[in-house]
Order: sequence, then structure tokens, then C-alpha cells
Amino acid sequence: MLRTHTNGELRLEDKGKEVTLSGWAQTIRNKGSVIWIDLRDRWGLTQLIFEEGKSDPQLLQKAAEVGREWVLQVSGEVIERYNKNPNMPTGDIEIRVKELVVLNKAKTPPFLIEDETDGGEDLRARYRYLDLRRTPVRNNLILRHKLAQETRRYLDSQLFIEVETPVLIKSTPEGARDFVVPSRMNPGEFYALPQSPQTFKQLLMVSGFDRYFQIVKCFRDEDLRADRQPEFTQIDCEMAFVTQEDILNTFEGLIRHLFQTVKGIDIGEVPRMTYAEAMRRYGSDKPDIRFGMEFTELNDVAQNKGFQVFDQSELVVGIAAPGIAEYTRKQLDALTDYVKRPQIGMKGLVWVRYNSDGTLKSSVDKFYAEEDLKAWAQKMNAQPGDLLLVLSGDADKTRKALSELRLHLGNELGLRKNDEFKPLWVLDFPLLEWDEETKRYHAMHHPFTSPKPEDMEKLESDPGAVRANAYDLAMNGVEIGGGSIRIHDRATQARMFKLLGFSEDEARKQFGFLMEAFEYGAPPHGGIAFGFDRLCSLMGGQQSIRDFIAFPKNNSGRDVMIDTPSTISDEQLRELELAVKRSS
Ligand code: AMO
Repeated sequence: MLRTHTNGELRLEDKGKEVTLSGWAQTIRNKGSVIWIDLRDRWGLTQLIFEEGKSDPQLLQKAAEVGREWVLQVSGEVIERYNKNPNMPTGDIEIRVKELVVLNKAKTPPFLIEDETDGGEDLRARYRYLDLRRTPVRNNLILRHKLAQETRRYLDSQLFIEVETPVLIKSTPEGARDFVVPSRMNPGEFYALPQSPQTFKQLLMVSGFDRYFQIVKCFRDEDLRADRQPEFTQIDCEMAFVTQEDILNTFEGLIRHLFQTVKGIDIGEVPRMTYAEAMRRYGSDKPDIRFGMEFTELNDVAQNKGFQVFDQSELVVGIAAPGIAEYTRKQLDALTDYVKRPQIGMKGLVWVRYNSDGTLKSSVDKFYAEEDLKAWAQKMNAQPGDLLLVLSGDADKTRKALSELRLHLGNELGLRKNDEFKPLWVLDFPLLEWDEETKRYHAMHHPFTSPKPEDMEKLESDPGAVRANAYDLAMNGVEIGGGSIRIHDRATQARMFKLLGFSEDEARKQFGFLMEAFEYGAPPHGGIAFGFDRLCSLMGGQQSIRDFIAFPKNNSGRDVMIDTPSTISDEQLRELELAVKRSS
């Protein structure tokens, strides 16, 4: 071993010990007569000291030449520090070095490899292996490791079997685009990378595996955001001979186990809400219930008072933001600008100050008397000091916009605390979603989701009103997981494909294998998949999943470190019988 101890280990009790440490030189302070080097490894930092009069002059000279991030091995004695550092676990001691071996020199790194770095995102991505040396990033990956281990431990205890499913498959319709892989041995034909192992896990149920799980990479060619990567990881699960209730209980158990074992937090019982209620109360299918500001529909009190904008709207809906009635005109304008941004697309925002003295003042005083506004405030259960914010328009769009405004204010008012965790089951999702562009229904979850038996009769007559046995686990405004009870008979599955606009031929070509499997004794089954990266970042108290992935892609889907996607040679193209691009 090139070390007797790690750099996070030594304490005052070790005073007097002769030790050997190895690691990277993080910071070097050279005062001429004294040189301190902070030596870093995975376990922490230990301070080394070289001192005139007490260290060999040649050794002092050698230490003076050490640069940042050089790899060192040192031997020496543990001594008590004169200036102790209470913020460092090893802060009571330092090592009086007697022998210094340079294991490897290093170029000066392009950014500071410390908790607070001066490196921008692009630079850190380019040198990801250096960024990974930083403690906060390493801690994120350690959290991920623990969550993966505890997931396996829990699911194993619940008698789940971990099965690997293939990566080179045929397209799975989860709603995003597929990444495709050409096949040299089958020119003109392509594999697709799985958007999820959905069909395979259903086949495993037909095979009798009963309880399956896999911590598995999934691939989706979609637009990227802070919580989306083109390749991401799911905790993918499926169970046979169960009801929706069994699934909810089993996976609530998983989430509770993870919070308990990894964070020491008891999240209690996970509340439940239907999709319809979530939309009505929060305008979102993944509401952040860490704070209030619930929606109040105001059509009956705000319409027919001469304000055209409201009168012509399908929905007038508001929230009461606590304690900010005194927002300045500038702050109110900023909120208006927020909802007018193209991503949100509202034409304007109506505000009402419910002043602490009980008076009301609004941006629409021309149309509403104070008692009208009072009726709004009452309906919203607002308190003096609150600011009422009201949007109107097409119901779906307005709810969505108000939801964004609610989250924006939640951030602005510090109501979305990183160390508070509020999971929520959202149940009874609609089976189908109308797509304006293609003018047809799409499966909201995926085409294998079972309609609610009591809604089956509406399948052809009123498809939009059919609810599914589908559920999501939302937490802090993030969709952490989603699943459903599946269709397990060929006839219903065929009916579903027809409803989704597949011809019989197309359905057979794409999913013939599954339909056929359903004819060989498919048990009732259902399951769920959690977004593992999202779970990690949420439990780590951060928004972006990127720092919980060792080697993530950037927002354009590129890995700038290995520089990919990249072109391939003409020879490779020819071999794959893909068109060879002409050089320009
Ligand atoms: P779904 O498509 O809802 O369901 O995906 C499950 C969970 O995966 C996470 N997720 C993502 N995380 C990071 N980057 C992405 N691009 C990304 N896309 C999805 C989300 C989501 O809740 N086969 C079904 C599950 C089932 O029915 O059992 C499925 O994949 O947290």
C-alpha cells in the first residue's frame, strides 16, 4: 500500500504516529520558511507542514517545487496543529513530513479543484474527470451509490428478481424519439435503444417472474432540460397478480426505505390526489405541496362586471400570495412580465393588493368596486397583507400559466425548501391525450396502460373522458416516477391500438410479439419506473440531475469531454451501407 491512512482519518489521538499518506496537492501555501500543503484524496484533506530548521533543507526545496494537483506520497509524524481548523475533520493535526515522493506531476488544472470553484460549466464539463475530484460532486455520486444499494436491498427483501433486458431492441413507444443503431449484418435495418424496458418487463410477467426490477439505462431523443438527459437511469419494476393498491404500497415502502436509510428522514404516509384534483388545485399533475397558494376559480365572482377580458374567458383563476400586498409597482410589473414571457404566453396579469388595513386596491379598479374585490378575497380565503394574482383565458393554458407563477413565487418567497420532502401520489390519469398537431389521441402514459374498468364503455364514444389505472409519484414539483396497471388481454390491447390510430397491420408489425404473448396466459400485472437521476438530485437538494451523473451530456446532448456525437469514417458508413456523405 502506498499509504497507511487516508486523508480524512487522522485525529489528535493519533499524535506521535509515523504515517504514510498519498493524494493530490490541493492548496499550497509557501511562506518561505514554512510550506503547507493540503493533501486530498476521496476521504478528505490533511495538512502537511515543511518548516525551516525542522525539515531537511533539501526536503523544503523539494516541497517548494510541488504544483497544484501533483500526486504525492509523504511519510512523517502526526503533530498537533498550532492553529486548529474546526471546520475540517482533520483540523487538529498536521503531518511533519520527513519524506516526500512525487508519484506524478500535473499540469496546472484549468479551474480550482475546491468546493467553490472558479470554473464555468463548459470548462468543468470538458475536464469532467477533474470536476469529479471536487468534494461536492463526489458526494453526489456517493449519494447515488447509496441509493442504488438501498434500492437493491429493499427490492430484494420484497422478493423482486433483478433481470437485465437488452439494449439493442426495437422501438418502444414512450412518446419520445428513439436513438437508432444501424446493423452491419442487416443492412438498411436498425435497432432502437430502449426508451424504457416496458415491453420486456411485461413479457417477464408472462414468463412468471412475478416481481422484477432493474436499475437500467434508458434513452430518449428529446429536448433537454435541467431534469432531462438523453440517457438516464430508471428503477424499473413490474409485479404480477397485484392490484394498484399493492403497487402503491410496495413502492411507497421503497421511497420510505430510501429516505429512512440514506437521509434518516421519516417521510410518513404519502398522500394521494386524483389527477383532476391536482389540476384544479395546483394546475399541475406534479404539484409541489410544500407550500399553499392553491388555486381558486373566480368565474362566478369576477365575470359579468363589464371587464371584457374576464367575461370572454373560459376560466378566471387566482392565487393569494401570502404577505406580499406591499410589493412595489416594479415587483408587480416583473410578475406581469414573467407570465407574458413566450414560454408562458399570457397576455397580462390582474393583481389585487389586500392591504393590512383591510382595504383593497387592484389593477382593474376601473371595473370592480372594493366590495367586488372583497368577494374575490373571501372566496380565496385570503388574509389582509396578501397579494391576489389572477389569470384568465383558455382553461388548460391558464392553469398551466398560474402553476408556473405559483412555483416562481414559491421560489421568490423561499417556500420551496431543499431539505423538505413532500411526496404525493397522483392517481387516475386520463388514458388519452388529444394532440392538436396530429389531430388524434395519444396514450398519455403508454399504449399498454389499462383503462379503468368502469370507464371502458366510453372508450369509443368519449375517449377523452376515459381514466386510466395510472399513477405518478410527484415530489417537490418533480415527477419522480410513473406507472400503471397494464392491459393483459389481446382483445383490449388490440382495441387500444385501434383507438390510437394503429392499423391492424402496424400493430402486428410493431407489437405482434406482445399481443401473441398475451395469448399464452398473461397474468394481470402492473408496475412503475422511477427516474433514478431525478430521485438522486432531489434527495441531494438540487435541481439539475447533471451533477448526479458521472459523465453527463450538456444541453445540446453532447459529451464535450470525449467530443461526441461525432462523424464516423467513410469506411464505417460504407460497411453499414449508409449513404457516404460527400466531402465539401
Ligand atoms: P415514464 O416515461 O414516466 O414511464 O418514465 C419514468 C420516470 O423516468 C424519469 N424520466 C427521465 N429522467 C431523466 N431524463 C429523462 N429524459 C427522463 N424521462 C423520464 C421520470 C419518469 O417519471 N415504462 C414506463 C414506466 C411504467 O409504466 O412502468 C416509463 O418509462 O422521473
